[in-house]
Amino acid sequence: MLETNSYRIGREGGIKNMIWNDIKDKVLSIPNKMWKGQLEYLFNKTNQLPNDAIIIEIGSYKGGSSAAIGYACIETNRKLFCIDEWNEKSEYHCSLKQWQQTIMKNGLEKFVFPIKGLSQEILPHCQEIVRKEVDFVFIDGSHKYKDVLQDFVFSFSLLKKKGFLAMHDVSEGSLVDAIHPGVWRVWNKIALTFLVDCEYYSNLACGQKTQNHWDSLSVLKGERNE
Ligand SMILES: C[S@@+](CC[C@H](N)C(=O)[O-])C[C@H]1O[C@@H](n2cnc3c(N)ncnc32)[C@H](O)[C@@H]1O
Repeated sequence: MLETNSYRIGREGGIKNMIWNDIKDKVLSIPNKMWKGQLEYLFNKTNQLPNDAIIIEIGSYKGGSSAAIGYACIETNRKLFCIDEWNEKSEYHCSLKQWQQTIMKNGLEKFVFPIKGLSQEILPHCQEIVRKEVDFVFIDGSHKYKDVLQDFVFSFSLLKKKGFLAMHDVSEGSLVDAIHPGVWRVWNKIALTFLVDCEYYSNLACGQKTQNHWDSLSVLKGERNE
């Protein structure tokens, strides 16, 4: 087995046994909004998914977290769908072109696909795009309570039983963390009721779906009327 261009290349030329150290420098050089170790967590989580897993990311920015997940799709049939409004006039000042440049530069275009628009408008129709139950959703889009709630509810309904849902910026607020009360409230009040075996990596939270029979839309309606 050769070590070329920091990947392990097998005899038949395919990339084998990729581990975080192989791609860490490439991923960490991309602008992102994650804390140390969290991109590695996303990469490793994706690597544990089935070979044909469907993954959805909400909030892709310039492609840092997309690349961390995308690298774990290489040499598999996994697919990552990235939803982002990519509005240069928003607080994030980020365009779809910038995200695409990241994906192309890292050779991930066969595994990672953009869906441009507001997640709250796209998610209700997402099943028609991905055409399968979803194995993993990573939510890091709008941090406003009503938006996060909708992202969670629609994502949860797309997830297969035993699928994983991760949310970034789950934080009550401290000296080192930004305060995101909307995200915190959705995670603690809603998500924890429907997810099990939750893991935390700083303010990145991830849990597994156990229930299939949940009328998510009624929860959303109840919350809206609060
Ligand atoms: C915190 S950044 C995501 C950072 C990214 N996960 C990373 O670390 O590389 C949030 C992203 O969500 C997008 N966003 C915010 N509100 C959104 C919404 N309602 N629908 C879709 N995208 C949204 C922004 O355009 C921005 O790119």
